[in-house]
Amino acid sequence: MEYQMIAPEHSEQVLEHLRRNFFADEPLNKAAGLCQNGSSCPALEAHCAEAIQHRMSVMAVDAKEKGACKIVGVVLNGILKPGDTAKALSKLDCNDDADFRKIFDLLHRHNLKHNLFEHFDVDCMFDVRILSVDSCYRGQGIANELVKRSVAVARKNGFRLLKADATGIFSQKIFRSHGFEVFSEQPYIKYTDEDGKVILPVEAPHIKLQQLYKAICAGDQDE
Ligand code: ACO
Repeated sequence: MEYQMIAPEHSEQVLEHLRRNFFADEPLNKAAGLCQNGSSCPALEAHCAEAIQHRMSVMAVDAKEKGACKIVGVVLNGILKPGDTAKALSKLDCNDDADFRKIFDLLHRHNLKHNLFEHFDVDCMFDVRILSVDSCYRGQGIANELVKRSVAVARKNGFRLLKADATGIFSQKIFRSHGFEVFSEQPYIKYTDEDGKVILPVEAPHIKLQQLYKAICAGDQDE
């Protein structure tokens, strides 16, 4: 397996990987019925494409796959500044994809309520936004390696704080094993509409959203 930084010219290949793996499999996308495996989702694709532009993302490539390189895992990382989440939340009203709105309303509001910027007094954060591994390559440590490399990228670029919104128990375990700590949690059964109906009926074993963070000190070494 090879690990490489993702450049903007890889965007279409990365999106194709996400359409076949992340878009339908990620717990909140699945609960919302955001899209079928392999189909496109313009709102989510725009969110992913924006992260790629920050040039902080990493991919796992299987060079042995039928003589051609195949992307088998990605972690999309972006730079988050104070005010970005409030702006993204206000833009959400104009988005015509109701399922996308359900997911990002939860994420943005949770982040605004449990505000890492205020708590840590930083002016930017390294935001681990999308973690995805090809379903045929799971269980081989690829996600672990992608998170490890993301921490190294953050450190190299001088970030003091990393964050991730982990939506399922496996990604939560992965982040914690790389030194991330839980800052806040939101049980999915408590995300309800005005009639008390659960908005995102997320399947077990995933029961809550966790906002995790990792603070980096100047003298810290890579794992
Ligand atoms: N069942 C049990 N344990 C699991 C599973 C599983 N399905 N998946 C991962 N784990 C555990 C592993 O046992 C391993 O534990 P260890 O370090 O103690 O050995 C750890 O999690 C890491 O395993 P990896 O092999 O590195 O994980 P993998 O490469 O299989 O990728 C991922 C995990 C990214 C969650 C993958 O299943 C996936 O793409 N799922 C769909 C998309 C998704 O949910 N992404 C995360 C959303 S949150 C976010 O994007 C910020």
